[in-house]
Amino acid sequence: MNAQLLDGKAIAASIRAELKQQVAQQLASGAAPPGLAVVLVGDHPASQVYVRNKRTACAEVGFYSQLHELPPTVTPDQLLALIDQLNADPRIHGILVQLPLPDAIDTEAVLERIDPAKDVDGFHPYNIGRLALRLPALRPCTPKGVMTLLERTGQTLAGCDAVIVGQSNIVGRPMALELLAARCTITVCHSRTRDLAAKVAAADVLVVAIGRAEFIPGAWIKPGAIVIDVGMNRTVDGKLTGDVDFSAAVERASWITPVPGGVGPMTIASLLENTLQAAGMRAG
Ligand code: GUN
Repeated sequence: MNAQLLDGKAIAASIRAELKQQVAQQLASGAAPPGLAVVLVGDHPASQVYVRNKRTACAEVGFYSQLHELPPTVTPDQLLALIDQLNADPRIHGILVQLPLPDAIDTEAVLERIDPAKDVDGFHPYNIGRLALRLPALRPCTPKGVMTLLERTGQTLAGCDAVIVGQSNIVGRPMALELLAARCTITVCHSRTRDLAAKVAAADVLVVAIGRAEFIPGAWIKPGAIVIDVGMNRTVDGKLTGDVDFSAAVERASWITPVPGGVGPMTIASLLENTLQAAGMRAG
């Protein structure tokens, strides 16, 4: 079998085009643009690229955005004071604190300080709890983007065996909640998982988010599986590669995401959707 490509780049571009139209309509009726504040602490090179891409996407769809760049030496109190200020700012509907934060800062305390109604990353325990209960929520961007990709395959998810490799708060755990809500049977694998190959081989839907280049060999993939590769690793020769050995997996899967151009652009599209949703929540 030769898998069909799940072209996240193209799907994200069509979502951005729709959002741009919606924003233009809102502006024409006299509403203020949705506003996103991005907070970047320190000089993590990958984070700088992600933040730049997020702000470019905001500009493209007509959002207002602010960038707050803070030195790695910022104190927890200074960062919390900025969050308080953004929580109170009526131009700002969404607040995103780029992770990871420096070790000296308590990440959970920062994320919990964000007003849940402005939590466009969907990382606040309030929003994660609502997702777990299948209540309307601001949903974490990468798993939400993956669900959009899975919808675009047109395949029925209910009853599928879904295997997630990686248990992070950002991807693995909320991904499990999303796929459970879609009525898949879920297995979440991590560094202590026994016989990972057998778990992966049972997956109708496989989502890999571990951050290790080409860690999943193609031979592990169940023929006909849908393979979603969240990994974004740079090899020694500077090439971007996912967590799955794409060239072998593409021979076995029915659908597969490329890296780059698969999940990455969908994460940003979901962030824009969440910001518009948060702006709507405040207006309504
Ligand atoms: N770092 C890696 N992924 C993400 C994300 O989706 N949101 C934020 N805020 N930081 C990240």
